[in-house]
Amino acid sequence: MADKNSAIAGEEPPSVAGLSIAGTSEAPAAGAVEQQIDPWSVSAGQDAEGNVLAFDYPAISNRKWNTKLIDQAILERFERVTGHRPHRWLRRGLFFSHRDLDKILDTYEKGKDFFLYTGRGPSSDNIHIGHTIPFEFTKWLQDVFDVPLVIMLTDDEKALFREDLTIEQTMKFSIENAKDILALGFDVKKTFIYSDLKFYGNGGSHMLWNAFEFSKLIPFNQVRGAFGFDGSTNTGRIFFPNFQCVAAFATSYPFIWGDDVNSPIRSKKTAAIPCLIPCAIDQDPYFRLVRDNSLRMKNPSPKPALIHSKFLTALQGPGGKMSASNPNSAIFMSDKPKEIQKKINKYAFSGGQETVELHRELGGNPDVDVAYQYLTYFEDDDEKLDKIYAAYKSGEMLTGELKKECINLMQAYVKGFQERRTQVTDEVLEQYMKPRKLEWLGKKGKSAP
Ligand code: TRP
Repeated sequence: MADKNSAIAGEEPPSVAGLSIAGTSEAPAAGAVEQQIDPWSVSAGQDAEGNVLAFDYPAISNRKWNTKLIDQAILERFERVTGHRPHRWLRRGLFFSHRDLDKILDTYEKGKDFFLYTGRGPSSDNIHIGHTIPFEFTKWLQDVFDVPLVIMLTDDEKALFREDLTIEQTMKFSIENAKDILALGFDVKKTFIYSDLKFYGNGGSHMLWNAFEFSKLIPFNQVRGAFGFDGSTNTGRIFFPNFQCVAAFATSYPFIWGDDVNSPIRSKKTAAIPCLIPCAIDQDPYFRLVRDNSLRMKNPSPKPALIHSKFLTALQGPGGKMSASNPNSAIFMSDKPKEIQKKINKYAFSGGQETVELHRELGGNPDVDVAYQYLTYFEDDDEKLDKIYAAYKSGEMLTGELKKECINLMQAYVKGFQERRTQVTDEVLEQYMKPRKLEWLGKKGKSAP
């Protein structure tokens, strides 16, 4: 459906209002609800009987938003160019889609600079594994490529988009979330993490200028349909996307590259440094906007490249999203070992049969089993995973045994995190949040992750 209000002009196909990715395959049966994805709310579809369906990712990628699926060819090239075996989340399709990842590999191959940009909306101080996984992945990319990374904490966004949150609250969450993120072990020499509302007035003037210049290129018509804005939308929400977009321009961080922060001039050379953004697929609308307009800036920036993840499966099963407001939907990084055990035993959707006898006879279904899904997130050993898959499917392995494997891994992951988290003091945080020159080597300094 052509929609002149869409943010998706140019190379990208148009979206429909509210960025529904609905209608991507056949028309739904009567009574069915189509999947809906935008940057602020996400829900899988329902069939005519009201059963929640799993997300249809190929539909999101290919048929509606026209991103590229990550295929064997690009994974092989990744390995050739970086000398690193692709991360299990790439091998297993958790990061499943991209835009221009091949161009980033070209850049790296030529020994040229690029940078990584990712972020989080600080809507609570209680993060779960669905929040840490994209950052773990970003850290892995940073280790593989040895490049600068910026992490944006959008306390402005959350205060504007959440009726129930104030600026004071979201700024506080930014600080707590920043500590959580840093507990994952980012290299301080190569990482800048910032709270939007603090940064704008403290070293972020070039980012503000970028946002104003960029905003001048974007008529309301172009975002209204795509972001679901209307006449009653508060004007902060309407302006905010400019920030998330220009955060992908290297000139928003002159200090990283040694440019003069006090100069009124944003460097043309710096503007040309490419950016790679790891993010969940629901953030794509923002970045289509910047991809469509980055070359129109006075100092043009290349279209940022993207690498998209699926949503992490909630404990209740496929189609759900882990949510900070539902403690039983996810494993939280503050959970105690006993809680993890209880949640997985009690709430993790099982693909097992009703009774042991039936299970032995018919076998389980690992494809819908949440404990198995979590093993695919955290068990790195492909062979071990294949064995578990086969054993569960044949009925040789019972649900309790599968859950035990999952509990062990999750407990170890959360424990490691909690230990490292205690090391992230205010002083440590301050080092990472300080606008400063970063140090990296790129291809020249390839270090093993
Ligand atoms: N809007 C994102 C959120 O609500 C936060 C964010 C800002 C982000 N910049 C990003 C996420 C870049 C991924 C990549 O969570």
